[in-house]
Amino acid sequence: MQQQFIRNFAIIAHIDHGKSTLADRIMALTKTVSERDSHAQLLDDLAVERDHGVTVKSRTVRNYYRDQTGQDYEYNLIDTPGHVDFNYEVAKSLAATEGAILLVDATQGVQAQTIANYRIAQQDGLTIIPVLNKIDMPAADVPATLAQLHDLNPAFDRAHTLMISAKTGEGVPAVLEAIKERIPAPSGKPTAPLKALVFDSLYDPYQGVIAYVRVLDGQLDLSQPLTLMQATLDFKAKGVGVFSPTMHPQATLNAGEVGYVVTGIKDPRAVRVGETLTRKTAPATAALPGYRPAQPMVFAGLYPKDNDYPALREAVLKLGLNDTSFSFTEERSEALGMGFRCGFLGAFHLQIIRERLRDEYGLEVLATAPNVTYQVTLKNGQHMVITNPVQFPAFGLIETVAEPFVRAEITTPDNGLNAVLKLVDHHKGTLLDLGNSGDLVVVTAKFPLSEVAAHFFSELKSVSHGYASLNTEFLDNEVADLVKIEVAMNYAPVDALAMVVHRSDAPAITQALVKQLKATVPRQLYPTPVQAIVEGKALARVDVPPLRKNAAVNGEAHSVSKKAALLRRQSQNKRRATQSQIKLPQSVFNALLEL
Ligand code: GTP
Repeated sequence: MQQQFIRNFAIIAHIDHGKSTLADRIMALTKTVSERDSHAQLLDDLAVERDHGVTVKSRTVRNYYRDQTGQDYEYNLIDTPGHVDFNYEVAKSLAATEGAILLVDATQGVQAQTIANYRIAQQDGLTIIPVLNKIDMPAADVPATLAQLHDLNPAFDRAHTLMISAKTGEGVPAVLEAIKERIPAPSGKPTAPLKALVFDSLYDPYQGVIAYVRVLDGQLDLSQPLTLMQATLDFKAKGVGVFSPTMHPQATLNAGEVGYVVTGIKDPRAVRVGETLTRKTAPATAALPGYRPAQPMVFAGLYPKDNDYPALREAVLKLGLNDTSFSFTEERSEALGMGFRCGFLGAFHLQIIRERLRDEYGLEVLATAPNVTYQVTLKNGQHMVITNPVQFPAFGLIETVAEPFVRAEITTPDNGLNAVLKLVDHHKGTLLDLGNSGDLVVVTAKFPLSEVAAHFFSELKSVSHGYASLNTEFLDNEVADLVKIEVAMNYAPVDALAMVVHRSDAPAITQALVKQLKATVPRQLYPTPVQAIVEGKALARVDVPPLRKNAAVNGEAHSVSKKAALLRRQSQNKRRATQSQIKLPQSVFNALLEL
């Protein structure tokens, strides 16, 4: 297709504002998929995505649109994920487009993720089409949402904003026309040396890495060997094509087009997102700027529930190929056996990975309470990066400990401001800025990442009755007064329960901790002392009560032989119990998360 008839665009929106529904609508109207298939939400093909109704990994789809004059256009739609943990994926996808549809749910109005995604798109210089969705719903407040959009950008006025219902299809044809009219055609040079941006990738066990590419200049085909410029890796591609919505091989991808390359490369980490793809002979003169790789922010141990370590290992390796922002290393816990210490973009990402292990690999895993990374400097000058609280050095050896801080942008309706400020304070936030955008307030604050990594998002939702939203970015590591809490059961330390907390919180947390453990640790036949130890001192202690009273002694007047049989059984049980360790169920770790 000639460049002037190509349009590359993304749909950006806050979570649940209807992005996937609109994408399905567009695919149905352009007959990329049949009406019958369209409500199956084809873009969200991972099982977790369907469960949560959330888009995790970006997709691209080529659609052909015939306008009212009969002219055909190539519409490359790039799907982007909506949850805060996946902002990084949004930025990657937008780099491959010239325009974006900014979709806002008219029942909810502009939300934090709307603003965050709008800013990314604006920084990339994209043409943005504002669209109000869900106008079929009685709760839709069109005038208020229009006013909010106008606050975001004065150019988003009534005349330039489209009103649709992605669900009923009302107004969607006008969106297709607006894409053609407002979003510029790509402007690459078809005869220049090949230069293509790798903006995403997928791993296929048979074909190796399949790279999603946007061709900027030149022509991509199978005639010549290709090179990844940053990795300086040469390869012979096995196929090029487009998703429509399944893979359709093509002879070439031309300047301005979006599609895939089957690289045949078996190491997914060799094909980095942000890479520049060119020809081995006649390469492009300079590589594209590229991206910073995604940094794992939150760490947790994953252990097999039924000792099936080999199965977990295989599943984790495969997931790592498919999701390069998920990192892992083998670790051994005294309490839980062999497992993995894994890095995630955030707590939600951890939840997604657990569900993928369950749905795609049939594995139930035990996840330890998540923690952040600690930068420890020892008195002897040695520097350590700690991703597992167990490795936290003994207190006498430590000179300083630094922990990660994030900058968080919280957007809330102004009547929720007080509750939000209280929450910020409660989580050790330092207020940096307070700004207005219509009747929304944007609170910018600095937090220790550990304070916002786990529960903050749901607490925020709850204090604001669902209206506030959150966007975080890493700032730096700063020195903090941190101590390790060790848990001992039966006077033996249980490594999987160790945690690192602020010293000022240690007394309250240790008390709450032993209380939670008393409620969740499985009872044994004997009382189990549980201690929470900080810097060698037990700050809190409880005894987990034994399973049951001594039936043989307490019972009614049984016959002597019955009593003897009971005692025999009990002593056997006792022996068994002292041999095996206390098994920690998931509920113990969940309870720790509540602290
Ligand atoms: P993420 O992928 O999680 O970011 O969500 P999304 O933005 O793709 O939202 P999705 O398309 O999954 O829509 C969220 C919910 O809103 C679904 O239950 C849709 O059926 C519903 N929905 C979407 N558009 C409309 C609409 O125009 N009208 C009504 N009534 N419901 C809609």
